[in-house]
Amino acid sequence: MKIDVILTGKEVSQEQVKGTAVVVVDVLRATSVIITALKNGAKSVVPVLSVEEALLTKKKLEQVVLGGERKAQKIEGFDLSNSPLEYTHTAIHDKNVILTTTNGTLAITRSSAAKRVLIGALLNATAVAKEAVREDTDIIVVNSGTNGQFSMDDFITTGALIHEMLQEKSYELTDIARTSLFIYESHLDLISYVKEAKHYKVLEELHLEEDLAYCFQKDLLKVVPEYKNGVIRLSENVV
Ligand code: MLT
Repeated sequence: MKIDVILTGKEVSQEQVKGTAVVVVDVLRATSVIITALKNGAKSVVPVLSVEEALLTKKKLEQVVLGGERKAQKIEGFDLSNSPLEYTHTAIHDKNVILTTTNGTLAITRSSAAKRVLIGALLNATAVAKEAVREDTDIIVVNSGTNGQFSMDDFITTGALIHEMLQEKSYELTDIARTSLFIYESHLDLISYVKEAKHYKVLEELHLEEDLAYCFQKDLLKVVPEYKNGVIRLSENVV
């Protein structure tokens, strides 16, 4: 069995992910938001690609909270931005969160042909790695990337996930998977590496330092969200 990495959401193809366990990563910040929202009691998170789709989906559901971003900022008329710190128990408990983000929700929806689509970030690194290796299949870590391009922050997070997967089982690694592992294992102070990333700098300029600090806490949470039939809920298997 093999672990591979896809570097941006737009590169994901149905044929490539079919039969595999995919872990989608958008550490800054979409997958960190989803993990936090479900941990704090959201009933579900529905990832959609556009503001129009979000508004249409809202008409079909009850108890809805609209969340997401464009250019890393809150969308006009939406309830919440893409800051995980806004997804508190009070804000989203028992609610269906409809989420649209620039890269993260695209990467998730494009992975739908996989056997399983798990949602990962540093916050749940060990938990999601353990869940992914339960399947006796190849694993693909899908990086959401930033505006269709490679992103350093997702890549080092991928290295952390692969590091944890290898504690559980042996896998053959593709060169790209091995490179992400190498980068993670040689930068145990993750911030020293990610602070050079373009999207990290964008969020810093928007004074979102608290989000950055929050998203880079490894293994803060044990929940594993899973995308199935268009909806993300907590995976039932996780202990
Ligand atoms: C995205 O999906 O593009 C990101 O989560 C952007 C952000 O940090 O808000």
